Amino acid sequence: MGKIVEFKNVNKTYKSGSEIIYASKDLSFSIEEGETCLILGPSGSGKTTALNLLGGMDYPTNGEIKVDNYNLEKLPSKELTLFRRNHIGFVFQFYNLMPNLNALENIELATELNKKNALDSKTVLKLVGLEDREKSFPSQLSGGEQQRVSIARAIAKNPNILLCDEPTGALDYNTGKQIFKIIFNLVKQEHKTLVVVSHNVVLKDVFDHVIYIHSGSVSKNEYNDNPLDIDSLIW
Ligand SMILES: Nc1ncnc2c1ncn2[C@@H]1O[C@H](COP(=O)(O)OP(=O)(O)O)[C@@H](O)[C@H]1O
Ligand SMILES: [Mg+2]
Repeated sequence: MGKIVEFKNVNKTYKSGSEIIYASKDLSFSIEEGETCLILGPSGSGKTTALNLLGGMDYPTNGEIKVDNYNLEKLPSKELTLFRRNHIGFVFQFYNLMPNLNALENIELATELNKKNALDSKTVLKLVGLEDREKSFPSQLSGGEQQRVSIARAIAKNPNILLCDEPTGALDYNTGKQIFKIIFNLVKQEHKTLVVVSHNVVLKDVFDHVIYIHSGSVSKNEYNDNPLDIDSLIW
């Protein structure tokens, strides 16, 4: 065990006319290996920006980002692509599945890119309870089922870190709970580090670590010694 993620004084700025917007501002935090971590903040607080920087989707304007022993701000873009491919699983709010590929093919597309460590596509589809739907296309699946395919796709690459950006934001309450149960079960079973981004404060009690962000900066860090079970939540 040790730190798997370390942000040190990270800034990410965008120009809007003559104005400079700080999407991340002097952002510093760390995440322990194997932890379940929630990044919590209102809309526009810089959550997606932080997650994309952590996942090597983008470079910071300045500052240091260390993930899985890579200094991301120093990696050339080709190496950053490889880092992302081999070390990170992504789950997005709107699933981002390929509409012309069926459930199994969507997963195989991801494992094709990381053959080295990849898990068997059919096995992971079973892990999310969709073994009977491998031939279904995204348009034939409910939102919850599509999100389960996207979780299977993220896990199939066998990454060390699973990143989820508002993973239940487009789902109803019960389906959202079911999705979180699947995510938590999978990361425990496969010994992954989990980072979820959300604006839903209710979630704070089920994670080991909660990082509150406001205006691109950390406003508070909290740790739960005994995180609650997802089943006990009401929102
Ligand atoms: N590509 C971009 N260009 C300009 N502004 C951006 C861009 N991405 C994010 N921002 C701005 O940065 C701030 C943080 O955005 P974001 O990280 O998406 O917040 P959150 O995910 O918490 O809603 C917002 O003010 C947003 O408008
Ligand atoms: Mg966002």
